[in-house]
Amino acid sequence: MSDALVAAATAARLKAFAPYSNFLVGAALVADDGTVVTGCNVESASYGLTICAERVALVKGVSDGHTRFRCVAVVADTADLTPPCGACRQLLWEFAPDATVILANLRGDRRTFTVRELLPHGFDAKLLRPNGSIS
Ligand code: THU
Repeated sequence: MSDALVAAATAARLKAFAPYSNFLVGAALVADDGTVVTGCNVESASYGLTICAERVALVKGVSDGHTRFRCVAVVADTADLTPPCGACRQLLWEFAPDATVILANLRGDRRTFTVRELLPHGFDAKLLRPNGSIS
């Protein structure tokens, strides 16, 4: 499964819209029901509006009704594997707290983390209500 997920993220990377940084990133998520959702980074001329590949994949998945993910692959063409930025770690924590994160590059290097390792002590909806309910 991880080979297929890395392949899906590698293919998604080629769709990146990154004319400002020329840094292409692809992401692929596996939802709880096995559905694979991909994303690439999408940059804006107003640079701060840029969205990372991981968050594009997450919002695509959530908008299709998937709110829990168990695995994510992130692919970039870097010798040092590219980890999710802080904003992406937050969203991963909210929708994929138990997920495995596979970082990969185009040379076949890989390293695996958990979302919990990448974002210890994360903030989430449980903390918004004293009794732990989100309804
Ligand atoms: N980027 C991602 O898409 N994911 C990451 O994990 C790191 C950074 C994008 C954002 C921006 O388009 C470009 O890479 C350079 O920061």
